Amino acid sequence: MSAYKITEHKYDMIVVGAGGAGLRATFGLAEKGLKTACISKVFPTRSHTVAAQGGIAAALGNMGEDNWRFHFYDTVKGGDWLGDQDAIEYMCKNAPAAVIELEHQGVPFSRTEDGHIYQRPFGGMTTHYGQGTAQRTCAAADRTGHAMLHTLYQQALAHDATFFIEYFAIDLVFDADGACRGVLALDMAEGTLHLFRAQGVVLATGGYGRAYFSATSAHTCTGDGGGMVLRAGLALQDMEFVQFHPTGIYGAGCLITEGVRGEGGYLTNSQGERFMERYAPSAKDLASRDVVSRAITIEIREGRGVGEHKDHAYLNLMHLGPEVIHERLPGIAESARIFAGVDVTKQPIPILPTVHYNMGGIPTNYHGEVVQKKGEDNDAVVQGLYAIGEAACVSVHGGNRLGSNSLLDLVVFGRAVAHRCADTIKPDAPHKELPADALDKALARFDRLRNANGELSTAQIRLDMQRTMQADAAVFRTGDTLKEGCTKIDKVHASFEQVHVSDRSLVWNSDLIETLELSNLLDQAVATMHSAEQRTESRGAHAREDFPDRNDAEWMKHTLVTVDEGGKTAFDFRPVHLYTLTDEVDVVPPKKRVY
Ligand code: FUM
Repeated sequence: MSAYKITEHKYDMIVVGAGGAGLRATFGLAEKGLKTACISKVFPTRSHTVAAQGGIAAALGNMGEDNWRFHFYDTVKGGDWLGDQDAIEYMCKNAPAAVIELEHQGVPFSRTEDGHIYQRPFGGMTTHYGQGTAQRTCAAADRTGHAMLHTLYQQALAHDATFFIEYFAIDLVFDADGACRGVLALDMAEGTLHLFRAQGVVLATGGYGRAYFSATSAHTCTGDGGGMVLRAGLALQDMEFVQFHPTGIYGAGCLITEGVRGEGGYLTNSQGERFMERYAPSAKDLASRDVVSRAITIEIREGRGVGEHKDHAYLNLMHLGPEVIHERLPGIAESARIFAGVDVTKQPIPILPTVHYNMGGIPTNYHGEVVQKKGEDNDAVVQGLYAIGEAACVSVHGGNRLGSNSLLDLVVFGRAVAHRCADTIKPDAPHKELPADALDKALARFDRLRNANGELSTAQIRLDMQRTMQADAAVFRTGDTLKEGCTKIDKVHASFEQVHVSDRSLVWNSDLIETLELSNLLDQAVATMHSAEQRTESRGAHAREDFPDRNDAEWMKHTLVTVDEGGKTAFDFRPVHLYTLTDEVDVVPPKKRVY
């Protein structure tokens, strides 16, 4: 019998998270007649999707020839052949309709002279299978995520869904058959606990960028869904693949969109050289992000960095002129002024590769159903559990996501999961009995953390974790740094036993919430470091200096990792899907990846 009073709610479906993916799923489910609740720890329009800048990819062909098959090819290649080609086909084929749907819903896209949606070039996006440059990224100036998030929230409000705002999801709840049937959450304003029961739970909780010291991610990006999944004993996938965006503002880490380079901006080193010409002779500054981030890192290492400490590079856009900057890039002009003290019409922006995106996450199929490995070649669906957006690993991004494929992923798979649930779940179906002890473990952990009385502050442990990840799971990795990183991160994980939560109250207790978030981050930091250590090849964003080549014979497979309560990892693998859903497009066989 718990000391906590728990209020019970019953819905057909619960969505956790109200970013782009969560909102698209929420109104999609409600539209299909499923009684849906969306739980979010922040007000929906403050979700991190709001920070997405450059745009959403779709082969509309508004600004030159394009074809979703080119987009498919680019995405497979961009992911360095770790992406599942069935899911990539699904995403790229559905992209044009997804963007037109957003336009009809009210997203204020920028326009061409003749009134079509404006599209800009982005890294790794080509025509004719690498021959030309595609203008595929549909943009609302450089505030596309902001525009989309507000539109999606309006859509969600227009449908009959219920929002529980500023509720923190603590743990998933399973029935006796291992099916996910709800979530335990804390109402942070009232300090009360709530059990949300449902036929299924969609995790749309975003990434865990804040495991690192410097990230473009909001401080709320703490991978709460991934943390809950690991605590449920389920595996996460491909956690070693962490994207560094080439152009975070030096020092502050805020994003400067790839759209700057799409509009004609370029990088230079201390010699004023456009160094990307040496690393990617064809795509240059618009090579994929992993390639550009590595190039900047090498320039700095070899002494050609800029500034007093020669530890960053410059992004130049002065030549674009005030008109283009004002019309296409107003947001980054403001960010550069505030965070770097730079007038972009006159000075370059000091930039440094900064953690931006997790390619890894909760493994799902292209319906958004969470899958786990069963047998050598089979995936088993975890009944009642779904994941979408950055929290998930579908895997459409493989080892490296192409810029502007993230906003696309949110809406395509947010919609897909709603359709899947509508096909498989009956509105108002009776709720199965939960086992008497269904909440015991979650409540015991919650109570333990609430009363944690050790020697170390949450902030101290978090800083130790972030410094370790920044130093040892970086753009370049080696066996030695990763081995040391594993030892260090295991120690940080163990130190969580000594955490101290100073405030015992349940009402607006930020110390408790940050401790719960840290627990989620720590498990995923351990998963990331150990996954990186065991993958002895270089692929996409995972660049091993001691294993510089991709090794398809041994490593064209997804890493599955579990982390137990004590922080111990265990590994398994899933085959990459080298097949498509239809014969409308051909599988792209692995080949050397050059830009
Ligand atoms: O550079 C950017 O605008 C980021 C876009 C993305 O990560 O997709």
